Amino acid sequence: MNNRVYFFDTTLRDGEQSPGATMNLQEKLRLAHQLEVLGVDIMEAGFPASSPGDFESVQRIAAQAGDIQVAGLARCVAGDIDRCWDAIKVAKNPRIHIFLSTSPLHMQHKLRKDPADVLKMAVEGVKRCVQHTSNVEFSCEDFSRSEPEFLCRVVEAVINAGATTVNLPDTVGYAQPAEYAALIDHVIRNTPNSDKAIFSVHCHNDLGLAVANTLAAFKVGVRQAEVTLNGIGERAGNASLEEVVMNLRVRHDYFGLDHNIITEQLYPSCRLLSMTIGQPIPNNKAIVGANAFAHESGIHQDGMLKNRETYEIMTPQSVGRTESNLVIGKHSGRNAVRNKFESMGYTLEDEQLNLVFEAVKQLADRKKTLHDDDLMALVQEEVYRT
Ligand code: KIV
Ligand code: ZN
Repeated sequence: MNNRVYFFDTTLRDGEQSPGATMNLQEKLRLAHQLEVLGVDIMEAGFPASSPGDFESVQRIAAQAGDIQVAGLARCVAGDIDRCWDAIKVAKNPRIHIFLSTSPLHMQHKLRKDPADVLKMAVEGVKRCVQHTSNVEFSCEDFSRSEPEFLCRVVEAVINAGATTVNLPDTVGYAQPAEYAALIDHVIRNTPNSDKAIFSVHCHNDLGLAVANTLAAFKVGVRQAEVTLNGIGERAGNASLEEVVMNLRVRHDYFGLDHNIITEQLYPSCRLLSMTIGQPIPNNKAIVGANAFAHESGIHQDGMLKNRETYEIMTPQSVGRTESNLVIGKHSGRNAVRNKFESMGYTLEDEQLNLVFEAVKQLADRKKTLHDDDLMALVQEEVYRT
């Protein structure tokens, strides 16, 4: 089986659907450029039929793009598909991405159609796309709550009609990793022509499982992951690109999968998004949060100073950040305090360290963490006072 995972970034589409994450044209163009620098394979630039503004931004992104594939989203109806194509056709590598619900709940209440009509619409939609391009993705919306046998029929039919990527989303973030993987495995094994398409997942984070579900899907043959920077997206968001990528890198021994993402560009990309939409990255966010490489407890700091692998499974540099941060606070040990002062240019005798260490503990009881300025004032006060 192919070991290459394709990263499909939907920050500019599903991500922008996140409340408060709206971006203007210039901001989208800047972010689109950064996604290329990051090494994303496919970027979903927007949903052209949804508004004239979206159409224009997708078209401008498509025009600016280099070799990256540029996808536009469309409902499974001719008007949307043709509009989508009009927006993306200037790209070097355009892709039409259509979606249609396959779950009983969505078919009955949202589409008000029976399964036979849905199957017909899916095939007609893909055929319409194929008139424009051979790069066609079909999404079974609400896949994780759909009937397995119906899914196999839909997937077989859309591949026969020309879909080259089949996306199996957990639209409402309902799936559990083992259960999701088992359903995907069932569909892949029981669809006769499944070897003719790349399977993809698109996981929402309503139960906090979007990354876990994405990773579980790789284990049963999925080779495209739909993700967003910082995990932004509808409701609780989508699987976060930086977390999925670093799982594949740090646990290459477990997954054995390769990709094109330049991991050193992860932090710059996530920061750019955060600054663009004015939403700070939470301090405890994996990979890119302020605390992801910060160590406060004395035991951890001591371990880090002896061998960083004791408490770090990846280097900050590998995700585009600078040095790890030994935060001086009330849990810090003598070794970390000495080391911190050395890094600030103060070499302390044992006696001096004793004085400073006591003062650090007292101050840290009052303040949560100590900044370099606090420490500098303290060393001046305790050591250089006389
Ligand atoms: O969550 C979802 O199912 C989607 C589809 C359009 C892929 O965003
Ligand atoms: Zn989605």
